[in-house]
Amino acid sequence: MKPMGPIPPFFEANSDGQLCIGGKAAGDWLGDEDRPAFVYARAVIDQKVDEFRAAMRERVALHYAVKANPWRPLLEWIAKRVDGFDLASRGELERVGGLDLPLSMAGPGKSDADLVAALRKSVIIHLESEGEADRAIALAEAEGVTPKLAIRINPPFILKGAGMKMGGLASQFGVDAERVGPLAQRLVSAGADFLGYHLYAGSQSLSAEAIAQSQLATIDLIEKLIAETGIIPKEVNLGGGFGIPYFPNEKPLDINVIGDAIGKRLEERPALSDTRFILELGRWLVGEAGVYLTRVLDRKQSHGETFLTTDGGMHHVLAASGNLGQFLRRNYPIANASRFADAQMLEANVVGRLCTPLDLLGDEVMLADTQVGDVIAVFCQGAYGLTASPNDFLSQPVAREHLA
Ligand SMILES: Cc1ncc(COP(=O)(O)O)c(C=O)c1O
Repeated sequence: MKPMGPIPPFFEANSDGQLCIGGKAAGDWLGDEDRPAFVYARAVIDQKVDEFRAAMRERVALHYAVKANPWRPLLEWIAKRVDGFDLASRGELERVGGLDLPLSMAGPGKSDADLVAALRKSVIIHLESEGEADRAIALAEAEGVTPKLAIRINPPFILKGAGMKMGGLASQFGVDAERVGPLAQRLVSAGADFLGYHLYAGSQSLSAEAIAQSQLATIDLIEKLIAETGIIPKEVNLGGGFGIPYFPNEKPLDINVIGDAIGKRLEERPALSDTRFILELGRWLVGEAGVYLTRVLDRKQSHGETFLTTDGGMHHVLAASGNLGQFLRRNYPIANASRFADAQMLEANVVGRLCTPLDLLGDEVMLADTQVGDVIAVFCQGAYGLTASPNDFLSQPVAREHLA
C-alpha cells in the first residue's frame, strides 16, 4: 500500500453511501454517458472567497488567474465574487468576454495580435521586457489609444518551498529588478497610463510564512522603486502562489498569517495608502472544488496485483498521473465514489485507458472493494485539470464539465 493525499474536507457520503457533490450523487453526475466528468462545487469556491475576504480584509483585492480553470460557466460564477481576472493569453481574453471586470495580462511571448487585442479591451498589460514595452507603445500609438501598462518584476528573491519557483534566477518572466525603475520612468515619459508593478514568485506553496515573507519583500522592493523613481504605483499585483494539499502529510495553508503580515506592513506605510494591492489566485480558489469522476471498465489481476481500468486517464488529469512536474510520483487523493462510506479493504492500481504505463491515477492505493461499473473520484481537480492535460491523446472522448 502507498499513501495518498488528504481528501478535501468539503465532501461527504449521502444516505446511499455514495460521494455527494453539490447535493447529487457521483453516479448521477455521470448518468449514462460513456465518458468521465469534472464536477466543480460552487459552495467550495464560495467558502474559499469568504476565507480570503476575512483574512485580507479590504486591503487586498482578489483576482482570479484564469489559467487555473477557464471553463466559461465557472468563470461566470467566479466573476460575481472576485475583483478582476488575470489573463495569460488572447484566448483567455476571449473566454472572459462580456464579464465586466478589470483585466490584466501577463506572460512571456505576447504577439502583436495579443497586445492589440489587450489594448482594444483596455487590459492592463504586464510587460515582461523592455522590447515588449516598445512594441506595446508603438501598437497603442497606431491604435490611437493610451496603453495601460505595468511592469512585471523578475524578483531578486525566491518563494521558498514553492512547487514551482519563478524568481531569484535568470528568467523569461519579468524584467530584472535593477532595470525596472528606468523602464517605469520611460513608460511615464512616453505618455502611457502607468499602473505599477506585478511580481509572481512561485506557485503551490504550503508555507504561509514563506508566502508572507515574499509579500513583505515585494513591498520593500516597491518602496525602493518609489524612492528611485518618484512614481507612486496605482497598483501592485503581489502574485500569490497559495497552494493546496495534494499529497500525504500536506496541510492546508493558514492564510490569516499572510493577511496579518501584509495588513500590518501596509498600516506602517502611509505612502502606499492609495496603492491598490492585489493577489491573483487560481489553484487555491478552485482546485479543491473540482472532482474528476471516471467509471471502472475492468478489474483484473496481474502478478498478484489488482488493476482497475477506468474510462478516464492522464489525457484529462495529467497532474494526478504524476506527469506534470513531479520528480517522484505520489498519489493524489482518490476514492471509490460509489462506495464512499465503505471501509477501504482493496489495494489496487487505478489506471486509465491510454497506451502507456504512465497513465496511472492511483498507485497501490487502498479503496473500498471496487466492482466494474463503480465510479472512481480523483480529488483536487478544479485547477490545472482538463485544460492542462493532453485531451486529444489517443482520441478518447473529452470529459464533460459540470457546476454543482
Ligand atoms: C503570473 C501568474 N499568475 C498567477 C498564477 C496562478 O497560480 P496559482 O494557480 O498557483 O494560484 C500563475 C501560475 O503559474 C502565474 O504564472
